[in-house]
Amino acid sequence: MRIEKNIEKEFNVFSKDYTSDMIGCVPHYSKLVSAFTSYLPKNFIPKYILDLGCGNGNVTSKILQLFPESNFTLLDASQEMITLCKARFKTYKVKYVKSYFNDYRFKSDYYNLITAGFSLHHCDSEEKKSLFKRIYKSLKKGGVFSFSDLMVNKNKPEHSKLLKEWEAFVNKNFPDGEKWEWLMEHYNEFDYPDDYTDQMQWLKEAGFTIINLPFKENYWINIQAVKS
Ligand SMILES: C[S@@+](CC[C@H](N)C(=O)[O-])C[C@H]1O[C@@H](n2cnc3c(N)ncnc32)[C@H](O)[C@@H]1O
Repeated sequence: MRIEKNIEKEFNVFSKDYTSDMIGCVPHYSKLVSAFTSYLPKNFIPKYILDLGCGNGNVTSKILQLFPESNFTLLDASQEMITLCKARFKTYKVKYVKSYFNDYRFKSDYYNLITAGFSLHHCDSEEKKSLFKRIYKSLKKGGVFSFSDLMVNKNKPEHSKLLKEWEAFVNKNFPDGEKWEWLMEHYNEFDYPDDYTDQMQWLKEAGFTIINLPFKENYWINIQAVKS
């Protein structure tokens, strides 16, 4: 598999075997997807939910099991991913937006839950900071922002140790080595992970006061921030 020119085209191609590729390439993928529903506040029933970088809908699908009556907005830059979601969620209340995060005009004071599964590492640090501020404004009081991702800056000394462990994980699942080679091309071209400590600080600066790490295995992390 060759990498494509931009995120939209890259994920149009990646959409083909998306879930099995993610399970084989992302350590703890299933647990990090489950984290979107496992650690929500007690008696929390979100009426309006926004999933940023919905992909083929694995995060939305998990949330739908708990809140089938909620109103969902699914956003992604890739038309192929949106087409997969449309087929998957036919019978639910779901709106679709094909857009890059930077071009999207968030509704103010509207959502009860905003999620992002493995999509924010495609944004650089400045984009994340700006996005966190826009997400904060878009949430209602008591609203939750939850995101799962790889959270380590590529310039950190511990990054090379992570790469070694990650390579062993991927090669165990795809022994011919081609998947790891493709993954690293993709990672070098499109991925800008940041440390979880930096991201927690940026969330604080955006206005969030309650910020937790309900799931953390090495640098594979779910962060949950509440607008109180
Ligand atoms: C790795 S997939 C994650 C999909 C799904 N959330 C999951 O947890 O499996 C990342 C998704 O985010 C989308 N994406 C990445 N960067 C984006 C951006 N800047 N704006 C909009 N969508 C983006 C990609 O098209 C892709 O579908």
